[in-house]
Amino acid sequence: MGKDVIVACDFPTREATLEFLDKFRGRKPFVKIGMELLYAEGPQIVRDIKARGHKIFLDLKLHDIPNTVKSAMAVLSGLDVDIVNVHAAGTTAMMQAALEGLTRPDGTRPLLIAVTQLTSTDQEAMERDLLIDKPMKTVVMHYAKTAKAAGLDGVVCSPMEAAAVHVACGQDFLTVTPGIRFDDDYAGDQKRIMSPKSARLIGSDYIVVGRPITRSDDPVAAYERCVDEFID
Ligand code: C5P
Repeated sequence: MGKDVIVACDFPTREATLEFLDKFRGRKPFVKIGMELLYAEGPQIVRDIKARGHKIFLDLKLHDIPNTVKSAMAVLSGLDVDIVNVHAAGTTAMMQAALEGLTRPDGTRPLLIAVTQLTSTDQEAMERDLLIDKPMKTVVMHYAKTAKAAGLDGVVCSPMEAAAVHVACGQDFLTVTPGIRFDDDYAGDQKRIMSPKSARLIGSDYIVVGRPITRSDDPVAAYERCVDEFID
């Protein structure tokens, strides 16, 4: 898998999603399907988008006991998605179980990445609610190394952390980074943001872009701009 722009299809219905994807005509952007769309439409939406020729990152962030995650991953593996994820906080045993469940009888499997600390969690909430008193960067790097040791393929992290993750876990360990905004964009609720161009320079492997594309007056042009800045 090379560098790519993943479009976060955060839509509430199949109709809205397919109407959006139809705008791309011949092009087949890498698509992220999250909880909202999957819970609204069920697994058929994954099959339908896959059948249209898109790669899919199914962003469900699993976090449960290892046996339950293993069984759930076996189901997701059958959907033939390209990337799935878990929370690294589920522990090494859970991540290893996820990997086992995901691996098909022929040895193939989707890529598995781990969420480190959500970018919505700040230092104060981590200390107060999770009783973790280490600095955020230390926690994120520890979770990334744990994910790597468990055999995972990479992490979801802030683009600000991508370079450090590569130094600690190797250049082949994938960094999938949301929090992308064009230099001239409104940031919305994202705080630690970076442009597609800066994300390329810092070494992100995949950028996840939602509203700068989905809410643009010209989504295809916004997508092309991301590709131009990030890949070309
Ligand atoms: O619209 P925007 O570009 O902010 O969308 C970012 C996407 O990445 C959303 O689908 C959001 O759920 C996801 N995401 C994130 N921060 C994380 C993990 C995922 O923004 N730490």
